[in-house]
Amino acid sequence: MTLRTILTIPDPRLKKVCAPVIVFDETLRILSDDLLETMYAAPGIGLAASQIGVLLRVLVMDCDKQSESPNPKVLVNPEITWYSSEKRVYEEGCLSIPETFAEVSRSEKVKVSYKGLTGEDNEEIFTDLWSTCVQHEIDHLDGKLFIDYLGAVKRGLIVNKMKKLKREKIKDQKQNKKTKGSP
Ligand code: NI
Repeated sequence: MTLRTILTIPDPRLKKVCAPVIVFDETLRILSDDLLETMYAAPGIGLAASQIGVLLRVLVMDCDKQSESPNPKVLVNPEITWYSSEKRVYEEGCLSIPETFAEVSRSEKVKVSYKGLTGEDNEEIFTDLWSTCVQHEIDHLDGKLFIDYLGAVKRGLIVNKMKKLKREKIKDQKQNKKTKGSP
């Protein structure tokens, strides 16, 4: 397993629509292992392949905060086939948009059909936090971020904040290099 770098906005890869997985092989298993390791290390409760720059319809989740043992889920080519009319509002964050949280309203329950690592068909109803999370992650596979649900002004402020953070990080790295290089 390899810890992968999580892309942050405004990386253009986060806006791409991901392609369905066609081949269910060892490469896919390695990808899912890397996604899980990277998600747990972050730490996060969900991660989509596009967030590590792999533009395939694969996501991982573990929203079982109560349980002591991990409950990882890998969803390949997931599709929401039913949305409950009842909504749930949750203050969402995203590993690709650090230190930013905002309330998003989504269906309280969804039915999702997806494939497993060996290509087997699965169908599952997700509720509560799992429902919020799976909808957030499937959005990633379509190049959509939770800040896209906010107004343009709020979204603009968040994107500008991230650009500034990135510039400061690069500046810091350059300064560190200079310091290292001097006698
Ligand atoms: Ni996210």
